[in-house]
Amino acid sequence: LDNGVARTPPMGWNSWNTFGCNINEGLIRGMADAMVSSGMRDLGYQYVVVDDCWFNPNRDSAGNLQGDPTRFPSGMKALGDYLHGKGLKFGIYQGPLDKTCAQYFNSYPGATGSLGHEAQDARQFAAWGVDYLKYDWCSPTGTINDQVATFAKMRDALAATGRPIVYSINPNSIHAKTGPQRNWGDVANMWRTTEDISDAWDTGQTNGYPMGVKNIVDVTVPLAGYARPGGFNDPDMMEVGRGGMTDTEQRSHFALWAMMASPLIAGNDLRSMSTATQTILKNPRLIAINQDTLGLQANQISYDGTRRVLAKRLANGDVAVALFNQGSAATTVSTTAAAIGRSGSAFTLQDAWTGGTTTTSGTISATVPGHGTVVYRVSGGTTSPSTTTTLVSASSGRC
Ligand code: DGJ
Repeated sequence: LDNGVARTPPMGWNSWNTFGCNINEGLIRGMADAMVSSGMRDLGYQYVVVDDCWFNPNRDSAGNLQGDPTRFPSGMKALGDYLHGKGLKFGIYQGPLDKTCAQYFNSYPGATGSLGHEAQDARQFAAWGVDYLKYDWCSPTGTINDQVATFAKMRDALAATGRPIVYSINPNSIHAKTGPQRNWGDVANMWRTTEDISDAWDTGQTNGYPMGVKNIVDVTVPLAGYARPGGFNDPDMMEVGRGGMTDTEQRSHFALWAMMASPLIAGNDLRSMSTATQTILKNPRLIAINQDTLGLQANQISYDGTRRVLAKRLANGDVAVALFNQGSAATTVSTTAAAIGRSGSAFTLQDAWTGGTTTTSGTISATVPGHGTVVYRVSGGTTSPSTTTTLVSASSGRC
């Protein structure tokens, strides 16, 4: 969506994965403080997104949304001011139908969705200083055309406010799982590609709840052609630092989100992060790959059911390569400079995890632990003439 924002994948934090409906203004402020003190803000994390359950179950007498008076007693404008005062941005959640997901599924009272209130709610969000709206379809009914029309209504309402607001949509809680069927780049800045992520590596399903990290990668990799500045596939908020996956799996999770040009929205408690968690979320080389200004999602170069090679072309001519081992035993994962569209005989590989470099005449290879991902930034050589056009537009094959 060409609305001036999200030219690279949005980075930030969202309350849902760890706290669900159990949120209040002190918690959100604490998370903002931690985003600053941990150094995450200065690495690019900026949106603090308050997910479902922030609101009073009743609109006011003029039909305006209001914050929950007990948990957000200072009001939503004050929260936005606090975040802006920290050099951060304010994200908020709403549903496009009569109810939010928590009102449908989690017994949260009321029916305060934006249906019929789109312009009024967009103006309210802008007045509160909102910089990011997560708009979450949560009804088993409705067709893809209903979704397009309904999501477009809020897109236009946000534009009419004149405030730059990242528009993040979730079209997937309709049971037909419509997300991957469509390129939502004409409607939103980011769109969910699957059902909800869980703090697990593999739940064994690709279109139901809950999804594991590996399952989400399976669904999102083929959608590479949709990503571009202003519009990104959203494989959901991250589960790094939540405790359900090994360190190797969490590193893969972050590395693959970086390669897929996915929004990097942390979902853990930022106030109590281990060193290992911080090492993952604050890896500057992977963040740079994710935030590259070309805004391309990595394309799949090869996949044999276990070993998956992805490559992402970068603005300075380098190519980021992920060697992902989906199996549980260590194995060698390999590709070549020619396979990722580079000609030449002298290349430098920088390991994104260690920062260390090696040289190669063309082979790009590593021994990768089970569920692990090695990422190299490949420099040197020139773009193969035969791949110049496919490099930009292909959704699979060359990067
Ligand atoms: C479903 C979404 O997929 C989640 O990320 C979260 O926003 C919940 N709804 C909130 O109810």
